[in-house]
Amino acid sequence: MNKNTGLFPDVRLRRLRSSETIRSMLAAPMPGPEKFIWPVFVVEGKNIKQPIDAMPGQFRYSVDRLVDAAGEVKNMGIKAVMLFGVLGPEHKTSDASYACRPDGIVQKAVRKLKETFSSELMIFTDVCVCEYTSHGHCGIMNEKGVVENDPSLELLAKMALSHADAGADCVAPSAMMDGQVSAIRRALDASGFTDTLLLSYSTKFASSLYGPFREAAASAPSSGNRKGYQADYLNPHAALREAFFDEAEGADMLMVKPSLFYLDIISAVRAETLLPLAAYNVSGEYSMLIASAKNGWGDLKPMVREAIAAINRAGADLIISYWANQYNQLLKD
Ligand code: PBG
Ligand code: ZN
Repeated sequence: MNKNTGLFPDVRLRRLRSSETIRSMLAAPMPGPEKFIWPVFVVEGKNIKQPIDAMPGQFRYSVDRLVDAAGEVKNMGIKAVMLFGVLGPEHKTSDASYACRPDGIVQKAVRKLKETFSSELMIFTDVCVCEYTSHGHCGIMNEKGVVENDPSLELLAKMALSHADAGADCVAPSAMMDGQVSAIRRALDASGFTDTLLLSYSTKFASSLYGPFREAAASAPSSGNRKGYQADYLNPHAALREAFFDEAEGADMLMVKPSLFYLDIISAVRAETLLPLAAYNVSGEYSMLIASAKNGWGDLKPMVREAIAAINRAGADLIISYWANQYNQLLKD
């Protein structure tokens, strides 16, 4: 094809977008509800649906109310939710032991959701201990305040196993420890959970866009930051190596997180792997559009659609997004 043939005035590009009808014929489809995974927060208690100030439209649910909310997203055609446990300080310890309890909040929620929806709704669980450690870091910390890699692996594997045992369809390790994918895969297989999927948060950046989530999940580190384990956005090669490693370790699916500031990384990973690729449209990306719309600086619905189209175009097969519970209002054609 010679891209140089035909120039104005013989060719007019606007002809191909001159009506809504022709535009709609030529438009790529927006991702349907089956491409979304709804991340949701779960707390102990009954009849709780507590608004999250930093994330309007999102709530912390007790298990009973989570069942209702999950039923609503399922009715919109969403096929999966991703669970995050939110704990009071009384359950947080330096060894994060609550994370592995069979009667922990996530484990209880998984059991109840599977009992209610069986295979019609996939249950993904986040496997990371920052919601469970007293210091708020994603692994075991030594006396010097360094998060130690290898001791954290055993803990993450135990946590993933407890989720699989409760019935989780897919465990999603997000701690960014080296070797976490193989440690978890081996532990799952050794206990017979050979069918449990593993979605690795393979390329997770140390980002300033996780603020609203950390408020929602009470998971901000009490000191320091996560740059010693999460990827550096100024080092894209290292970010790609993270994806290669996790693929080699046996991840079923990969992820790039955040998404909107990392579309180049999404397309780079997409070009290098045949694994399904998820993109996490994180809390800061969600709340910034809401804040902008509230200030009258943009209309929410078109901004959300443009953001989701961009993530899809970059090459994500699955989109983990808080917009999922508003799919019908914001994203349905
Ligand atoms: C846990 C985890 C975080 C997010 C998902 N899993 C927080 C963090 O790394 O501090 C952030 C998600 C979001 O901002 O929506 N490690
Ligand atoms: Zn974490």
